[in-house]
Amino acid sequence: MLSMMAIFTRRTDRLKRLSRSFPHLPLSPFKWRTTRSMLEHVEASLRSSGGSALLHSPLGKSFVVTSDAELLRFVLVRGAEFYATADINGLEQHFRASTLTDGQAIWPLAHRLAATFPMDHREVGTHILSCIDASLPPQGGRLDATASADALWGEIQTHVLFGRRAPGIAPLVRAAFETLLGRLQSPLVHLWSSWQKLPLAANRRYRRACAIARQAVAAEIARGPSTEWCMLHTLMAQGGHGRNASDALELCMAFFFNSSATVSSSLAWLLWHVAADGPFQARLRREIDADADSVLSMAKLVAMPHLDAAIAETLRMYTPIHLSRRALRDHRACGRYDIPAGTEFVSNAWLVHRNPTRWRDPHRYGPARFIGTRTPGDTYLPFSRGPRGCPGKRISNGVLKLILARILSRWDMTAEPRHGKDFRRCIIVPTLPRELPVWLTPLARLPHTRS
Ligand code: HEM
Repeated sequence: MLSMMAIFTRRTDRLKRLSRSFPHLPLSPFKWRTTRSMLEHVEASLRSSGGSALLHSPLGKSFVVTSDAELLRFVLVRGAEFYATADINGLEQHFRASTLTDGQAIWPLAHRLAATFPMDHREVGTHILSCIDASLPPQGGRLDATASADALWGEIQTHVLFGRRAPGIAPLVRAAFETLLGRLQSPLVHLWSSWQKLPLAANRRYRRACAIARQAVAAEIARGPSTEWCMLHTLMAQGGHGRNASDALELCMAFFFNSSATVSSSLAWLLWHVAADGPFQARLRREIDADADSVLSMAKLVAMPHLDAAIAETLRMYTPIHLSRRALRDHRACGRYDIPAGTEFVSNAWLVHRNPTRWRDPHRYGPARFIGTRTPGDTYLPFSRGPRGCPGKRISNGVLKLILARILSRWDMTAEPRHGKDFRRCIIVPTLPRELPVWLTPLARLPHTRS
């Protein structure tokens, strides 16, 4: 009881200090019953405050929530070394650890490893293409883009990590990820860390699902890498951490965790929008046809402005991770702000991407806005920014392009209208789509459909 009182007093003091540091920010009380209502509340507070607000919960926890360019630059880029990425009160640690066996943080190694992904390696392209061809029906038909994107990325992901198909892994990882999303439906997760330690059935289910997924990935690591280009091979070839199976496990889990729903939700929306816009689809197909062989290599897809624009616009409108959380280690000054140690920031890329003062007609899908212009980092941050920005940006852009190029070179796509609510609105990947129906019709000029 006494320690609860102490925590509460500390949190109230912190709120007082925050209110002094950010005197002009509106204080927004807690009104959150579900994650969805919490997200809506955060967005409404930011809209009415013009970019930042102080959110305060009844359990005393407070956050600076912001889509303000100056604060975002400070938190994500200039002052990045003063910040630690706050995971969701340790909940994610069941899924993957954030430290290596020697106590060092995992993220620098994850960044180094992702940078070695070979975009111009023909074998990588060929393996990914074989995943695409095996996942989609050659004779065409009706697909749910959401389910197909998920299955396809699951296949590609295991190829990228282990250099081979590992069919059982992706569904187990996905099951653990889904249980995590389930846990995050309660705002309590963000406010009271001890809650996840209670012997509740849901907590036990989550821990069990994570343990099963981790065991399967550990067994795959024990089999060793199949090819020289896969992540596991690169990791094992490095000295130090690379030789340690526990570290390899945490790195693989970190890649699975961060890329699970981000790539597949982007892919599903990308396919649906391209399918829904016949003239744009034809333009994309002409761009790809200009170099027929280009569909075989990610490196050759680099100079494809319309393909790039389609992906960039999808990530703007359906930003998979729109909240990033950071905790300030020491007391710091940022422009007009004097920020106390321990301050927690939550950035909101979703609002940055849908801000009508920065984007014309922001709720309309319009890839043309990305053609022939450079978008400033303050206005566009689907992969976050700075040293803790996404290390998988190159991989996901390359893979998304290759998939779209392959599909467009083989099938014509049409979309069925969407019904009901678009998103599941969970907190980690709020734009996970519900069913997105798409029809594939084989293109007549394909060798196997020619008479
Ligand atoms: C469309 C696809 C993707 C998007 C939009 C995306 C977005 C992001 C964002 C916004 C962050 C920062 C999160 C934060 O600030 O809390 C992040 C981190 C991360 N992403 Fe991605 N990601 C994508 C795909 C991938 C892929 C394919 C990989 C790996 C192969 C990956 C690996 C990571 C890792 C390891 C981190 C943590 C980095 C760190 O802690 O420093 N991501 N991602």
